[in-house]
Amino acid sequence: MKKYSFGIIGLGTMGSNFLQNIHEHGFTVTGYDKDPAKVNALNAEIPGGETLAFSDLKQFINSLETPRNIILLVPAGKFVDFVLEDLKAYWGENDVIVDCGNSHFTDTQRRLLALANSKVHFMGMGISGGEAGARYGASIMPGGDKVAHSRIAPMLEAVCAKVSGQPCTAYMGNGAAGHYVKMVHNGIEYSIMQLLSESYHLMKGFAKMSNEEIQKLFAEWNTGRLHSFLMEVTAAVFLQPDDAGNGLLIDRILDTAGQKGTGAWTSQDAANVVSAIPSIDAAVSQRIISSFKKERVQYAQQVINVATQPIGDKQLFLKQLEQALYSSYILSYAQGLNMLTRASAHYQFGIPMASVASIWRGGCIIRATMLEKITGAYTQNPSLENLMADSYFAGELQSVKKDFSFLVASALQAGIPVPGFSAALNYYLSYHSAWLPANLIQAQRDFFGAHTYQRTDKDGIFHSAWSQIIR
Ligand code: 6PG
Repeated sequence: MKKYSFGIIGLGTMGSNFLQNIHEHGFTVTGYDKDPAKVNALNAEIPGGETLAFSDLKQFINSLETPRNIILLVPAGKFVDFVLEDLKAYWGENDVIVDCGNSHFTDTQRRLLALANSKVHFMGMGISGGEAGARYGASIMPGGDKVAHSRIAPMLEAVCAKVSGQPCTAYMGNGAAGHYVKMVHNGIEYSIMQLLSESYHLMKGFAKMSNEEIQKLFAEWNTGRLHSFLMEVTAAVFLQPDDAGNGLLIDRILDTAGQKGTGAWTSQDAANVVSAIPSIDAAVSQRIISSFKKERVQYAQQVINVATQPIGDKQLFLKQLEQALYSSYILSYAQGLNMLTRASAHYQFGIPMASVASIWRGGCIIRATMLEKITGAYTQNPSLENLMADSYFAGELQSVKKDFSFLVASALQAGIPVPGFSAALNYYLSYHSAWLPANLIQAQRDFFGAHTYQRTDKDGIFHSAWSQIIR
C-alpha cells in the first residue's frame, strides 16, 4: 500500500485546496473526511491514483509514513477536540499534529498542555489567504513544538506564498504563538477593512461620487503607497454587476457586517497584555453597530445624520482622505505589532517581529507594499516598541498629520461616522502627548476610592484627605 508523507484531516475547500497545493509541490499527501462526498470529490480532482483520500480514519492513519505528519483543517472550536479524541486511538510515537484552523490561542494552550506528556508533537498554525491562498500560496504562521516545526518546515516553505523568492512562513514562537499571530493579523484585517468602508462612505455620502468614480479612485490608490490586497479587493468589488438585478452588486448588499470572532478576540486580549489597539476595537464595535439595522433605521428617523455640509474643494478633500487612509494603515499595523511585542513578553512566546512583518508581505489578507518598509524597521531594530517610533514612519506620519486631522474634522462636521479614522488619529495624538489629563483620573480615583496616586515631584505612593466631602 502506498504511504504518504502528509495527511490532511478535513476536506472542505481549505483542506482540499491545501492538499492539492502540497501535492503539486511534489510531496506525497492524502486526506481524510468523515463525509464520503468530499473524499470522492477530491479523488476525482487528483486522478491517476497519485493520492487516494479516505473516509475511514483507520485506513487514513495506516496510509501515512511513520512518524506521521497530520494536518487538521477543521472548523475551530469543539471539532478540533473531537478530532484529537478520535486520533488518540491511533497516533504513534513522535507523530506531528498541526491545527491550522483559526483556533483561539487559549484553546491551543490548553491542547498543548493536555498533550505535553503524550507521544505526539502538537502545533498551532495560522494560515491566511483564504481559499486561493491555501491552493496557490498562503502566509503560514506556525508556532509551538520546534521538533514538529523543523519536520514540516520544508513542506511549508515550498507551498507558501513567496515575495522576492522569500517564503512567507517562519517559526512564530513558543506555545500558541502561531495562532496568536494569526489572531492579531485578523485584528489588523478588521481595522483596514473598516477604514476602507469609511473611505467609501465619505466618497459616496460626502463627495457624492458615483460607483464608477469610487472604483477608479480605489484602483488608482492601489497603484501607489497604499498598494495592498484589501485595496485591490475593494476596487474589484465596485466592478461586480448584480446578476440578480440591475446595477452593481454592492448596492444590493445589506449593510450589516458579520464576524466570526477573531477581531473581537484581539480586542479582548489586548487589555490582558496591556496594549492599546483602538483602531481594531473601533472596527469590532462598528461591525456590531452595523448589525443593529432595525434600530439604526428607527433612530435615523429621529436625527438627521447625513452630510448636510457642502464638501467645498473635492480634490483637496480626496487628497486628505488618501493621507488619512495612508496614516491609518500605518497606525493599524503599529497597533497590531505593538500588541504582538507586548504579548510576546507577556506569554513568553519569543515572537520574531521582523519575521512576522516579512511573512505578511505575501499570501495573507493584510499583505501590502508598506510591509516591506515595516519589515525593514523591525529588522533594523527587533525590539522596536512601536512602529511610530521608527524614523521613517515617524516622518511619514508627521508629514500628513495636518491633512489627517482636517479629514476627521470635516467628516464629523458632515455627520459621517469615522470611528476607524478618528481612533487612529487619537492613538497617534495620545502617544505623542507628553502630558495627558490622567492626573485628573488619578485624583478622582483617590477622591472616591482611596486608590492612591504618584506625584510628579517625589517618589512614592500617596493618598490625600480630600477636603471637599460629597455625600
Ligand atoms: C484569512 C482571514 C480568515 C478569516 C476571514 C473571515 O486570513 O484568511 O483572516 O482567516 O476567517 O477573513 O473573518 P470574519 O468572518 O471574522 O470577518
